[in-house]
Amino acid sequence: MTHINHNRRRFLQNVALGTLTATLPGFALGESQRINSAPNPSFKADVEIALTARMADVPIRSGAQTHVFKYFAKLLNGPPATLKELPGYLGPILNFQQGQKVRIVFYNELPEPCVTHWHGMHVPQMMDGHPMYAIVQGEQYVYEFEVKNPAGTCWYHSHTHEMTATQVYQGLAGLITISDEVEQKLDLPSGEYDIPLVIQDRSFSNGNQLRYVLNMHQRMTGFLGDTILVNGQENNKIRVKTKAYRVRVLNGSNSRIYKLAWDDGTPMTAIGSDGGLLQKPERLPYIMLAPAERVELWIDFSGRKIGSELTLQSLPYNIAPHMERGMGGGGMRQGMRGMGTMGGALGQDGVISIAQFQIAEEVSDSPKLPAELVSMHHLTAQDASNPDKIVPVSIGMRHMTFQLNGRTFDMQDYLEFEKIPVNSVQRIRIFHDNQGMGRGMRGGGRGGMGMMMSMPHPIHLHGQQFQILSRKHANADSGYNSIKDGFLNNGWKDTVLVMPGEEVEIMKPFKDYTGLFLYHCHNLEHEDMGMMRNFYVS
Ligand code: C2O
Ligand code: CU
Ligand code: CU
Repeated sequence: MTHINHNRRRFLQNVALGTLTATLPGFALGESQRINSAPNPSFKADVEIALTARMADVPIRSGAQTHVFKYFAKLLNGPPATLKELPGYLGPILNFQQGQKVRIVFYNELPEPCVTHWHGMHVPQMMDGHPMYAIVQGEQYVYEFEVKNPAGTCWYHSHTHEMTATQVYQGLAGLITISDEVEQKLDLPSGEYDIPLVIQDRSFSNGNQLRYVLNMHQRMTGFLGDTILVNGQENNKIRVKTKAYRVRVLNGSNSRIYKLAWDDGTPMTAIGSDGGLLQKPERLPYIMLAPAERVELWIDFSGRKIGSELTLQSLPYNIAPHMERGMGGGGMRQGMRGMGTMGGALGQDGVISIAQFQIAEEVSDSPKLPAELVSMHHLTAQDASNPDKIVPVSIGMRHMTFQLNGRTFDMQDYLEFEKIPVNSVQRIRIFHDNQGMGRGMRGGGRGGMGMMMSMPHPIHLHGQQFQILSRKHANADSGYNSIKDGFLNNGWKDTVLVMPGEEVEIMKPFKDYTGLFLYHCHNLEHEDMGMMRNFYVS
């Protein structure tokens, strides 16, 4: 049944090989390049899953089914609760326990290359879903890793070279939950009171088929759809009881950033972020959630009237992208609000309804929100292994594409300062490179003008979770003021939203695993245009 396209495989390998010999003298070629197609007999898996990516027709909206790419999974070995199917186009939820050894045999049955990444999980290079490990139709890749992450919410999605945006858009994503002993002692809402909430924006044709078109502006801003999907379906009504819930929110959108809030003004209570539970619950008026970020919400419906509703919304904000001129010193800013609304997509100038919680049944004995959740060592600048060195991640633009550290993604390329000693803790500064912009634009700008589009970028780093050390904003304007109270800055993160004019410093451990680990913008259109680089951990 399976047909292996050897030519395609050889082509992929040669592409990577070309880069490799040019930039990686001494790098263990055979090892790094090997498609891991067979299980390791000495890896004693507690959980074994067969995961297949293939085309399918699924119900997303009422009416005709939608043609999608979808992850299908079969549990071969392990606790039955490991897999939880969702009705829409997302892959099943993978429920892991800390300490479990997991083997996932991934089969690509799509007519294009594919690779799967376990976003937020701390796994070895060969198990991380780097695009150099893409397999073609008919091939398999064996992922084997121990679950080291603490309790929390991660996700998995395709990470195929220049195809991540289109493959995730068509459905190649799913949620991962991780549980551990610390969490179990907390007695947080569980079972039916622990619910996923994956938010994605999509556009559909009249026949209910997914539409992905990038007009000129969306090539820069990223794709914005006109329909919100929750857990892979358009139906966003969730029936709840009068009790406290744990809601695991993932922004699985390609580029849309949400400003999440309850419609009746109830503050948002966060108990977890990307990397797991917070030290203690945090109350915010609203929460900014950029692509790939997660937030775990605590919402208690007890005391609410049967038949009433509480809606999770995305509120308006005005950080629409604007152009900055790369000349004339300070740079002239010209607001271009509403750009995101072109082509019929939902704008960010209005309220968007995300999910309606319908209070349907009265129950008693709601658990109380714990005052403390988990213990956490707060990293400071003093924790850096080399206090004199700050690793730069500059955001720039050249030839109408966004870049990191002045370069576009190249499969195995890294610069000297992108070499990170294993088992170190690094201070990393993420900032907008306005000088580089002026330089880069010379001769490359339209009509001879040095223009750069300044926009928010959710920067994601593979490997271990990091902590936010500081956020600095050059000249907070009304746009920034409309979002600044929505950042969850305490807790472990793997993705941080960097606003125009903002500089963010993080502290990131690089323990256990050597090799190439990606960092990139998780606006998937930006990622696919090359806004991605490698750290080489050695
Ligand atoms: Cu979720 Cu490298 O990405
Ligand atoms: Cu990732
Ligand atoms: Cu970006």
